[in-house]
Amino acid sequence: MSLNFAWRTAATLVAAEATTQLKTISIIGLGYVGVVSVGCLSARGFKVIGADLDAAKVASVAAGRSPIVERGLGDLLYDGVRSRRVTATCDVAQAVRDSDVTLLAVGTPTSADGGCDLTYVRAASRAIGEALAAKSAYHFVILRCSVPPGTTIDVVVPEIEAASGKKLGDGFGICFSPEFLREGTAVADFAEPPKVVIAASDARTELVARQVLSERGQNVLITSMTAAETLKYVDNIWHATKVVFANEVGRFCKSLDVDSHEVMRLFVQDTKLNLSPYYLRPGFAFGGSCLPKEVRAAMHIGAANGVSLPLIDSLLVSNDSQIEEAHRLIASLAPRVVGLLGLTFKSGTDDLRESPMVELMARLQNDGLRVRVCDPNLRPGQQLSSQVRSIRHAHGDLKATLDALETGGVLDTLPTIMNECDVIVVSHATEAFRDAVRKRRPGVHVVDLARLFTEVPQEATYHGLSW
Ligand SMILES: NC(=O)c1ccc[n+]([C@@H]2O[C@H](COP(=O)([O-])OP(=O)(O)OC[C@H]3O[C@@H](n4cnc5c(N)ncnc54)[C@H](O)[C@@H]3O)[C@@H](O)[C@H]2O)c1
Repeated sequence: MSLNFAWRTAATLVAAEATTQLKTISIIGLGYVGVVSVGCLSARGFKVIGADLDAAKVASVAAGRSPIVERGLGDLLYDGVRSRRVTATCDVAQAVRDSDVTLLAVGTPTSADGGCDLTYVRAASRAIGEALAAKSAYHFVILRCSVPPGTTIDVVVPEIEAASGKKLGDGFGICFSPEFLREGTAVADFAEPPKVVIAASDARTELVARQVLSERGQNVLITSMTAAETLKYVDNIWHATKVVFANEVGRFCKSLDVDSHEVMRLFVQDTKLNLSPYYLRPGFAFGGSCLPKEVRAAMHIGAANGVSLPLIDSLLVSNDSQIEEAHRLIASLAPRVVGLLGLTFKSGTDDLRESPMVELMARLQNDGLRVRVCDPNLRPGQQLSSQVRSIRHAHGDLKATLDALETGGVLDTLPTIMNECDVIVVSHATEAFRDAVRKRRPGVHVVDLARLFTEVPQEATYHGLSW
């Protein structure tokens, strides 16, 4: 999906800046996120109205006392109330009417079916809409709740529109900006957020969100609503994965009488491969001479030592499902001849050990499909047959595929493959393959396992595996 930010030209931003004079911010929901925002935004000089249905929280904030335990917040609220920058009310609609910008920070708990309960988001959005019905000035709404992708445009906006009788862009603008603060260090995190992510419906709203959420304009990332909504979930899934991973490392190490903290002290110092964007691009399954072998060895040690390692044990299962997903996608195109561009486990090597592409090739051949292969690092002859011989012991079940490979009979040149195959599967993001895909014959399908292009081609014959 391409992001349409056509309106974000310098000219519109400058014009918007000239028309935007921020006065008062209402914050709906005085829970952990809302009340920290009240204290921190008032400390930055904004007039802030806190609104909640819970009278006890409202009374606490109105009296300049923090309703939650959070370091530094009590002082900020006390100062805010004393200097008359902070007020609080149970009348949500009035708070919206009396403000220029509304931050929505109500709860989004787990629903009975395990999904996200949007009851509070819907009710608060309706209250905003009711207030806007009686307001002539343009209003800015910033959603800070963690919500399923699509919620801002498909739930919040329609609720506001229905209750206000106004249209997005006419009476109000909307922004989704996920909150990344951590309880316990929330005040410090608000001042120095790891990032500020802004997805806005228009230039004015983007500018207002910048002014409210990024004190010094640093670290602001602009994106689409759904990417921002998804990012919040992905961030937390990643944090959960890290905690579970570190704990499994701890159990694994303890079973071997190795100090897990010494191992992880060393681990985190590698910012090239361990804590880096490396290995974090959706693509095809892992393979090669190291990853599968060492994951298996760790699983073996865990089992032998009676240690439960569910995350580590699930890695090969998940990896295999990526191969199966590619297999299903290719089969769904009902190919006559499949051309595989790249067979080694990654580009720039002739190593075939545990290449997921060999596994994929075998599954396609088992379906009775004709498969042709182009890999510039594999040439028929002595080197290829010794490569294939070296992987036979690990791939006993792939005999027919490896026989065909060893003779070199499945290998073809790139032009021949592009001429003869009706489905092209690309696993190496090389310039030659990218160029061949761009210039393919009309009607030839491409299954991209390597994300060849930054912008996903909007073509019916282009299929990405994970995008
Ligand atoms: N707590 C965190 O550390 C944290 C961090 C990042 C994001 N978030 C997200 O921010 C959102 C808020 O989280 P929280 O922990 O502050 O929630 P919370 O449950 O502590 O507070 C929510 C508040 O909203 C109020 N509320 C509910 N419906 C209302 C309505 N219609 N009008 C006015 N007030 C209403 C409730 O009374 C409550 O005080 C959630 O989506 C959460 O996932 C939380």
